[in-house]
Amino acid sequence: AAAEKGNYPHFMLKEIFEQPETIENAIRGRINYEMGTAILNGLGFSPCELAQISRIVIAACGSSMHAGMVAEYYFEDIAGISTSVEQAAEFRYRNPIIEPNTLVIPISQSGETADTIAAVREAVGKGAYISALCNVVGSTIAREAGRGVYLHAGPEISVASTKAFSSQVAVLLLMALLLGRNRRLSRSEGCELVREIEQTPELIRSVLAQAEEIRAIAKRYAGFDDFFYIGRGCLYPTALEGALKLKEISYVHAEGYHAAELKHGPISLLDERHPVLALANDIPGRDKILGNIQECRARRAPVVAVATAGDREVENLTDDVIFIPHCSRFIAPLPTTVALQLFAYYIAVERGCEIDQPRNLAKSVTVE
Ligand code: G6P
Repeated sequence: AAAEKGNYPHFMLKEIFEQPETIENAIRGRINYEMGTAILNGLGFSPCELAQISRIVIAACGSSMHAGMVAEYYFEDIAGISTSVEQAAEFRYRNPIIEPNTLVIPISQSGETADTIAAVREAVGKGAYISALCNVVGSTIAREAGRGVYLHAGPEISVASTKAFSSQVAVLLLMALLLGRNRRLSRSEGCELVREIEQTPELIRSVLAQAEEIRAIAKRYAGFDDFFYIGRGCLYPTALEGALKLKEISYVHAEGYHAAELKHGPISLLDERHPVLALANDIPGRDKILGNIQECRARRAPVVAVATAGDREVENLTDDVIFIPHCSRFIAPLPTTVALQLFAYYIAVERGCEIDQPRNLAKSVTVE
């Protein structure tokens, strides 16, 4: 196994660093430049069927559910299709409403998560259109769904998901592009989105190039036992995913919150012992986040921000900043997640945690 890790001390770090390539693999051959759209044959629908989809329901667990929550913004904003994300564990017990023309998208890296399998069976039983997003080829969910799109991220060994998550987000963005072009998105808007998607590997490389700086920041925060992660828009589920990474591998309590919800409760906890990770990228909502950061600072909470390169305002307002090159709101979750993965990883290293095989966790949860 050591050999497979190459020069990396852990699979997790190796997989974090693979992301420029795994994203390239996720999008390779799936773009029609001429038409500014995506080619996803596995999805299994004719253009006519695609045009009929009136609602999307995503069912998934853990990081895969967070990817689905990012995609909720994509499907609604880009394609104009009403979308909801269900915890796979709840899906079949709540007698879900599956109307004709509802597309159910189960998302699962392993394709073997028991709750997500149960959701697939429920959806199949209700006669839904179904198209799965899996990484493991031939897995139970991929087979039972019958159609879907593979991530091509390669085996993910680390229990905490990294490259599978980013590939899920990338492929979901392609799906939204395809559905959008099938509806309200113009060709030039489609071409613009294609250009943005293609910049993602480069954006991720620029975050990876800052690994040492992120490590230095992580060192300063490794002694804290409670963190809040806040974001808005697509960066809200990104905050949830960042907090989950920290919990999973460093055993540090971390909560992801919508930045605006902070003042409806959790802010009562804030003091100098509760650092806040604020996702303050230059996307719609940034000004509001600046206000939220000030609220945190007023309670003496240390603030680490992720911000767009050159944002002096955020820099002046916070204790530490991780800068990300400018990118659109749809792309921002990807490089931001990579920064949060590295932050969690280096905190776990500082705390002497096991990382690839955290206690009590399994790569694939095959019981309900
Ligand atoms: C486990 C893993 C997580 C993963 C989740 C869903 O909890 O530890 O990393 O996100 O299962 O797994 P799936 O294979 O369905 O994406």
